Amino acid sequence: MHSQPSEMLTQLIAAQKPGHALQQPFYNDGAIFKHEMQRMIMPHWLCAGHLSSLPRPGDFVTVEIASESVILCRGQDGEIRALLNVCRHRGSRLCTEPAGNARSFVCPYHAWTYGTDGALRSARLMPAEFDRDAHGLKQIHLRVIEGLIFISFAETPLGLVHVEEVMAGTAKPYGWAAAKIAHRATFPVKANWKLAVENYMECYHCSPAHQEYSRHHVFARPPAQNTEIDAKLRQRSVSLGVAICELDRYALHAEHGQETADALRSALTEGAVSGSEDGGPVAPLMGDFTDYDGGVTFFDVGPVSNFLAYPDHGLIYRFIPKTVDRTEMEVIWLVRDDAREGIDYDLARLTWLWNVTSIADKRIIELNQQGINSAFYEPGPYAPMEGGARRFVDWYLRSIG
Ligand code: FES
Ligand code: FE
Repeated sequence: MHSQPSEMLTQLIAAQKPGHALQQPFYNDGAIFKHEMQRMIMPHWLCAGHLSSLPRPGDFVTVEIASESVILCRGQDGEIRALLNVCRHRGSRLCTEPAGNARSFVCPYHAWTYGTDGALRSARLMPAEFDRDAHGLKQIHLRVIEGLIFISFAETPLGLVHVEEVMAGTAKPYGWAAAKIAHRATFPVKANWKLAVENYMECYHCSPAHQEYSRHHVFARPPAQNTEIDAKLRQRSVSLGVAICELDRYALHAEHGQETADALRSALTEGAVSGSEDGGPVAPLMGDFTDYDGGVTFFDVGPVSNFLAYPDHGLIYRFIPKTVDRTEMEVIWLVRDDAREGIDYDLARLTWLWNVTSIADKRIIELNQQGINSAFYEPGPYAPMEGGARRFVDWYLRSIG
């Protein structure tokens, strides 16, 4: 699992100007990408979806990241496991469906057959002494917190102290454990995964690139303009009895051995109550909310799993590295589990804002990659409003070396 940084990488890190964007090879060198996957992605906890997609025994979804594929499956015994989608015979990809319900998984190559718990049930025409028990599917670590499924490829996974603390103050009051998936959309992006993450971590681009988002989110403005409205939001949350954590520590600096997590609370503009086209409600209130508080909570876990909670819906925002210059952004919309599409919420209205916002992000992230690929690209300084992107890059440089 562990790879050593190359001579080139060590030199690049040494040459990195503090407070400046990363140099070109970080965004287009295949060897660095491979090293990052082993060092920055696989050892961390990654959000792989929401529990509500696996209600019955045999339900499964496959999740893919870089060259790995994992089957998340609820076994006939009711337990959810993360099974590596690699046949134990000669290594064929086993399950080729993105989701479904299965009693067993049959390899398309020589038909070895595995149970929903990963055990090898049958292997045709193998000699009598062949040990089936030793050839079950490999498993990786899986944890469900507030309805969110996290997986880790690490042998010994990072601790979840900060993650559990952040989730108790964010996902929990919004009732995410009892939510359901209303919609999911995938946006393929022709760019390195870090450009997608950096873009997500800053709102300097929001005012020029996201008119729709900026209309109702004060986060798009310079922070000094928001002190008063953020204070009002805190008062409203308290009066509603909703305790929401506002951990201002940027926990990507978490101590060794613990997964990183952070949370940020921000107000919507005066009169707006949700992330929608007109700022109005889009679905029934979730969790502990008895009224709209005029705010939104952002929280993040590890390097590529991000979340947003409005009082009436939530979003899982996953960045999935594919290759050095290909990333997928997956957006999953959550609503209360008893909300009925077409009656309690309109799908087009629910998904409008983060659909247009993600399309715009895809465009600017791809343009960013195109410019960086130029021989004349020179990393420039981060602006004060890009503090989140800068902290992500600092953390990246410390982790990758
Ligand atoms: Fe799966 Fe042969 S590779 S049965
Ligand atoms: Fe954006």
